[in-house]
Amino acid sequence: MDAREMKIKAAEAALAHVEDGMRLGIGTGSTAEEFVRLLAEKVAGGFRVEGVPTSERTARLCVELGVPLKSLDELPALDLTVDGADEVDPALRLIKGGGGALLREKIVAAASERMIVIADESKLVDTLGAYALPIEVNPFGLVSTRMAIEKVAARLGLSGELSLRQSGDGEFTTDGGHYIIDASFGRIPDAEALSSELNSIPGVVEHGLFINMAALAIIAGPAGARTLQANR
Ligand code: A5P
Repeated sequence: MDAREMKIKAAEAALAHVEDGMRLGIGTGSTAEEFVRLLAEKVAGGFRVEGVPTSERTARLCVELGVPLKSLDELPALDLTVDGADEVDPALRLIKGGGGALLREKIVAAASERMIVIADESKLVDTLGAYALPIEVNPFGLVSTRMAIEKVAARLGLSGELSLRQSGDGEFTTDGGHYIIDASFGRIPDAEALSSELNSIPGVVEHGLFINMAALAIIAGPAGARTLQANR
């Protein structure tokens, strides 16, 4: 089974949690896109959902495939969000934001009763951090913000390259008009501490550590999909 087939397996298993009439947060990335494709098939067969997309990219795919969309302001309380992740640890802490949509992803997940993460097994790790942590920052004061990130990281014993994400000729810009710094810490033993330290930096808009947000993770491997549950 290749990576795409595993993503489809995880997406199929997540679809089983979607009920008719649900208000649904719809994630971003290649795994979430497999979910959108399967959801669209059900919608074409008469299944009713209203989706809130976590990015312009997801919104475009939903429109193309006929998945009905609303804005988060129109549907401010959602039943379920289904989204991918860049890393998942056994406590269902996540790194997200590889696709640059972490701010809307976090806002949508926080507005949802439940979040289900879907991923292939390459995303499952013992400790977060091998994947560079995306940190969304305001372009204003970029250099100061970067220094502040270095400082809090050092306080927590973390170091590694902080690289400003590029796209084409210039800086990658998020749907919200911000930049992303990818922080290659290697290993993040205390994700909670790093999360609250990063949140205290004014120029940091949001970061890709999702803690206590996912209720379930559906992880697909060659033998099929298995579900991990958060212990809380
Ligand atoms: C998008 O900003 C991310 O949070 C994605 O959910 C994450 O990068 C997973 O993407 P893939 O499913 O493409 O690996």
